[in-house]
This record gives sequence, C-alpha cells and structure tokens, in this order.
Amino acid sequence: MSDMGRLAIIGGSGFATLRGLEVLDQQRPATPYGPPSAPVTRGRLGDAEVFFLPRHGADHSLPPHRIDYRANIRALQACGAERIVGLAAVGGIGGAFGPRVLAVPNQIIDYTYGRAQSFHDGDPGEVRHIDFTHPYCEDLRRALLGAAGDADLEVADGGTYGVTQGPRLETAAEVLRMERDGCDLVGMTGMPEAALARELGLRYACLAFVVNRAAGKGSGDIRMEEIQANIAASSARVERVLTALAGARPS
Ligand code: HPA
Repeated sequence: MSDMGRLAIIGGSGFATLRGLEVLDQQRPATPYGPPSAPVTRGRLGDAEVFFLPRHGADHSLPPHRIDYRANIRALQACGAERIVGLAAVGGIGGAFGPRVLAVPNQIIDYTYGRAQSFHDGDPGEVRHIDFTHPYCEDLRRALLGAAGDADLEVADGGTYGVTQGPRLETAAEVLRMERDGCDLVGMTGMPEAALARELGLRYACLAFVVNRAAGKGSGDIRMEEIQANIAASSARVERVLTALAGARPS
C-alpha cells in the first residue's frame, strides 16, 4: 500500500461493483447520519487493499439528490480510509472532452441545492469554514495521473466539473451557461462529496469518464443507450487506473 494512506473508491454509475476487486469482507459502520449507501467492501485490487462503496447503492437505487453523502464519507473515515477517489460518469461540454475520455478534474462549480452539504451545519453550535480554493487534493490528483501513465492510458489533466442537481439531464441553455461559467464536464454527484471529504481532512480526487456530449453539444438528443455503451467501453480503463493507483509506490 502507498504511504499516502489507505485508499477508498466511491463507485458511481456503472460501478456498483469493481470487477477486479477480490472481496475480503464487508463492513457496516454506523454514522450519526445513518448507514452509507451500501456496506463498505474491503478487498484486494491487484496487490493492494482498498475500500469500495457504491454511492448509488448496491442495486443502483439511489438517485444523486437522495444520496446521503455525509453518511458515505463518515463511513469511509470510520473504516480507516485516508484518501478517496470518487468515480464519475459525466457529460462532456468542451470539445476536448468527447465520449470515453478519462479526466482528473481540478476545479468544481456547484449548482446543486437542498443537499446536506456540511458536517458543520451549526448543529450543535460550532461554525467552521474550510478552505476550498483547490477542491481536490493535488497529491492524489498527481497520483491518479501517474497511475494512468503507468497503465499506459491517456487521461486529461484538469478541467472544471460542474455539478448539477439531477436526476434529469440539463437543457441546452443550461449547458451553454455552464460553458460560459467555465465548466468542462457536467455530472450530478461531485458535490457535496468533495467538500465533505475536505471537512474531515481526507484526501479526495475525482476520476471522471465522459459518457455523452452534454445537452446541445452533440447531434440530437442524449440517448441512454449511448451512455450505457460508453460506460461499458470505459470501465476496464477506469479499473486499470485504479489498480495502478492502489499498487503505486509514492514518488
Ligand atoms: N449531465 C449530468 N450528469 C451526467 C451527464 C450529463 O450530461 N452524463 C452523465 N452524467
């Protein structure tokens, strides 16, 4: 295991399980917020031990706005995770982010609302603010990019992930606005996950894979079959990056 600390992976759409994960056991840590989306699996990925949690639940029944992000992050911390990679199936806004591109974003714009987004919500008492200038852990981002290199895979370094409320996809006008705002990628689950990890002092980065051109950016409407096909076409490469990351020695 790397000296950067024990690794946890949060699976998104297409990743209710990790194919290459050899399961050791499952843990159900209690949290003040209730149970996480699913039991936390401890397993072996390559030679390394990792934790795995599917954020939409084991049967993919939780939509993005109903996920208890606080319970998930707290549960991973309780298991002993010190760094977390959140997987994200996303739409591509910029021309460089076509279907099947892998990306390690470096910025976030949060368009979500009504989600429990802090462990410090004034209940009880204490008001705390975190620095979030750079929302992702740069060391973990670099480690992901290095792992992709080790696995001989191309990954885009950086990009702004715009997080929408869902579960519907966006209108073309909404995507144009996001583009003007500077978003490169659009997904529904990047927040408050990243901020909650920062609040607990856990290293967090995102490995995104583009599964469609965002609304109005492709030819015609977005087809769910296209999204499914692109998830299927990306999953082996995503797993290769994760396996290389889990086994990587710190540089
Ligand atoms: N928008 C929001 N979330 C998504 C998309 C999208 O186009 N594709 C995959 N997740």
